[in-house]
Amino acid sequence: MEASSASPGGLRSEVNRDVPLARPGEFAPLRVGPLRVWPPVVLAPMAGVTNYPFRTICRRFGAGLYVSEMITARGYLNGNRRTVLLASSREDESPRSVQVYSSDPKDAGEMVARLVDDGVHHVDINLGCPVRKVTSHGGGAAIPVKPRLVAALAKAMVSNARGVPVTMKMRKGVDDELLTYREAGRVAQEEGVSAVGLHARTAAQLYSGEADWSAIGDLKSRLSIPVLGNGDIWESFDALRMMRQTGCDGVIVGRGCLGRPWLFRELAQAFEGREPERPPNLGEVRAILLEHARALEEFFGEATAMQQVRKWCAWYTKGFRNSSHLRERLQRVSTYAELVAGLEGIDEAESFPPGALRAHRGKSGRSQKVSLPIGYLNDLEDATPPCELFDAAEAEALDGG
Ligand SMILES: Cc1cc2nc3c(=O)[nH]c(=O)nc-3n(C[C@H](O)[C@H](O)[C@H](O)COP(=O)(O)O)c2cc1C
Repeated sequence: MEASSASPGGLRSEVNRDVPLARPGEFAPLRVGPLRVWPPVVLAPMAGVTNYPFRTICRRFGAGLYVSEMITARGYLNGNRRTVLLASSREDESPRSVQVYSSDPKDAGEMVARLVDDGVHHVDINLGCPVRKVTSHGGGAAIPVKPRLVAALAKAMVSNARGVPVTMKMRKGVDDELLTYREAGRVAQEEGVSAVGLHARTAAQLYSGEADWSAIGDLKSRLSIPVLGNGDIWESFDALRMMRQTGCDGVIVGRGCLGRPWLFRELAQAFEGREPERPPNLGEVRAILLEHARALEEFFGEATAMQQVRKWCAWYTKGFRNSSHLRERLQRVSTYAELVAGLEGIDEAESFPPGALRAHRGKSGRSQKVSLPIGYLNDLEDATPPCELFDAAEAEALDGG
């Protein structure tokens, strides 16, 4: 972990020490079809994370486009209760954005039509899921290996979207030997997709190593539609650096905001040319965590909410003194009252720990050998939708990224 320093406003880690704030007019709003997004910041779809309650907390701090977690078309179209709940929103959310998970153009198209009927303003599709169960059946990150299947998905979604913008989110490829982003981006553009997002890692990398921002610049230089860069935005200054280095049109922020929804405030300030505010101290973090827990409870009911709260406690308290004790205590909460009690006695004045700025949350570490269906690479022109064997409930347990 690099040393970090306190600037007059907030915190900056060493890698960002000399990064200038945005100059007036330096960055433009992100255009996604008819939507105009300022600052050009998108909350990454994250399974088990970017539900309506968390999106609402993020929006309270900043501005941008906040995407739902991946929603399986099969579960949604079959009316699976939990899937429909996860896809749902409330009237105060606008624009409303949903990520679809499907490898079947017919299902994807039908789902888009229904989402648009339901008032959704933006639809994304997940072409980057690296999970074995998914790629071994030709789904997720295996889809872009077959450009004609990408084209069929894009066509079905765009033609059912009635002007609502459709975007595609993908990884660099399966592994370094099988890069797919250039061709998938080209095909997406040809089929009328409004923007593409690139998580600059391969599926083999999962979340390990550093994202390869040069691939984002490469894709940007090849396309005329907006390109969104994704990977390793932990601080607002990373977003400015990524946009300057790659020329991309906007950034997608994933793990950096886990337990740090105020990152969206910092991003909004940096893009406005203002020094970002200091992050909250532990007392303020507790208030945000409790607000988040209440919102989850209201949306999912207390039992489910408190199960989810356990992982949020770990993320919100990461890096604070004695946080491992605190986390241990909070890992067992099953009611809101227990959560409140578990947070008693903290040092409210403790400042946000600089070392937690770039501490990985959610995922990191290992890489993998990607599993594809037997014979999958024999016919790259094939556009037959793969036969996916998991059901909606299983899909929900997946990490979709
Ligand atoms: C817990 C978790 C769940 C994720 N779920 C999804 C998902 O549902 N759909 C998706 O396209 N990507 C998903 N991702 C990947 C993120 O959207 C993003 O591409 C990735 O985390 C890289 O960005 P980051 O370095 O800012 O975290 C997930 C990532 C995490 C950590």
